[in-house]
Amino acid sequence: MVAFRVGKALLIATLIFFSLFLALILFSPSFPFSRSPLSSAVPERAEIWSLRRIFEWRPCNWWLQGHLAAVPAKSNGYLRVDCYGGLNQMRRDFCDGVGIARLLNATLVLPKFEVAAYWNESSGFGDVFDVEYFIQQMDGFVQVVKELPAELASKEPFKVDCSKRKGSFDYVETVLPLLLEHHYVSFTPAMSQRRDRYPWYAKAALCQACYSALRLTSTLEKKGSELLQAIPKPFLSLHLRFEPDMVAYSQCEYSGLSPTAIQAIESARGYRKRLTGEEAHLWRNRGKCPLTPNETAIILQALSIPTDTNVYLAAGDGLMELEGLTSVYANVFTKSTLLSSEDFENMHGNTKAALDYYVSINSDSYVATYFGNMDKMVAAMRAFKGLYKTLFLSRRGFAVLTSQGLKGNSLMEALWKVHRDDFVMGVGSALPDCFCEFKL
Ligand SMILES: *[C@@H]1O[C@H](CO)[C@@H](O)[C@H](O)[C@H]1NC(C)=O
Ligand SMILES: *[C@@H]1O[C@H](CO)[C@@H](O)[C@H](O)[C@H]1NC(C)=O
Ligand SMILES: *[C@@H]1O[C@H](CO)[C@@H](O)[C@H](O)[C@H]1NC(C)=O
Repeated sequence: MVAFRVGKALLIATLIFFSLFLALILFSPSFPFSRSPLSSAVPERAEIWSLRRIFEWRPCNWWLQGHLAAVPAKSNGYLRVDCYGGLNQMRRDFCDGVGIARLLNATLVLPKFEVAAYWNESSGFGDVFDVEYFIQQMDGFVQVVKELPAELASKEPFKVDCSKRKGSFDYVETVLPLLLEHHYVSFTPAMSQRRDRYPWYAKAALCQACYSALRLTSTLEKKGSELLQAIPKPFLSLHLRFEPDMVAYSQCEYSGLSPTAIQAIESARGYRKRLTGEEAHLWRNRGKCPLTPNETAIILQALSIPTDTNVYLAAGDGLMELEGLTSVYANVFTKSTLLSSEDFENMHGNTKAALDYYVSINSDSYVATYFGNMDKMVAAMRAFKGLYKTLFLSRRGFAVLTSQGLKGNSLMEALWKVHRDDFVMGVGSALPDCFCEFKL
């Protein structure tokens, strides 16, 4: 018994010693990989993905354990989630909505995907996601129906717009009475909810819906896997966000853009003004400006990602200044080059977004230049699948370091450190709500 205790104490001491040692190695400025006396250009180091990680994000146990509490036999009414925006934004809102349906003990009706506003097409939930699979996977988490009962089928739902509500918006207080009164309510979830206040069973319903129960339709999966097969392996999926509307929306100032790009941005600008001077500088240093393909190529090189890496561009069709990337990373592949032109032209925005999503949750590595809905969704799914080569490039890091005047090798070195620390600490796949930090 005593021997056992001593053994255990020794083991713990050894573990602590090793953790400290590891931390010392990883965080010391003279990390063995970060400098090489042999090279005066870009320092020789191993690729970022080869670093020893300290933390990883995994699905939380309370979610994987199952549905925790039986769904009450009596439902408080029918609830439909109305989703707007791009595919991944709609998905995010839908996931929230499932959690809320369980919170209110409501029966979930298939959501409305309001695609027309953004995509000029009419693909609904069932055109993107496998309905039968969803219903089956949600069994025990929340009640779902495909059809409303006859007495409600011809009725329009009572609409509640929660999308502008902030912070401590309480659905039980606000929506439940309406649900009990009207029996059928449709709503758009609030932007920033306090999900930490939800009971576990509601959170579990959200997580199950978002990460286990949403599968693309078999038609889309088939297309996705054809595309995946056509990409040379291994490959990195890169989500660039340097389209005219994105840049206009950001209000950021860029120098060195081509006249074509400047014109495209100006025509997308609308009422938004472009920030200038000190204001533009501060905004950029807060990490608000999308990375150019040029800047992206610099950061990828700083991460020692070889320039002969196969890169799949998981991005829209309107990317600007792409030469900034392709002049450095020559093996770049896009949907339009890999799919037959007939296939490609018949494809809608949602379908293209679904294919990029599919490829990105199956790629060897995923790098996002922004922190958008697709990036969050892909990072989460990759964490769910145990794929950890995921990284969000630091726009803030890049802005601050370059505004300090860092160039060439010292810029590379500093960029490496920023991203190395993110990767080692699991920040690249850090997600609240459904995932928990796991010490490796
Ligand atoms: C929903 O059902 C749970 C039991 O699963 C119960 O504890 C909770 O009070 C119910 N909430 C509402 C709003 O009906
Ligand atoms: C939307 O689609 C219709 C029919 O496919 C087409 O005629 C129209 O030009 C499109 N509108 C936009 C803004 O792309
Ligand atoms: C990209 O970098 C090159 C060289 O560093 C520069 O000449 C060019 O203007 C840059 N382009 C953009 C869009 O920033």
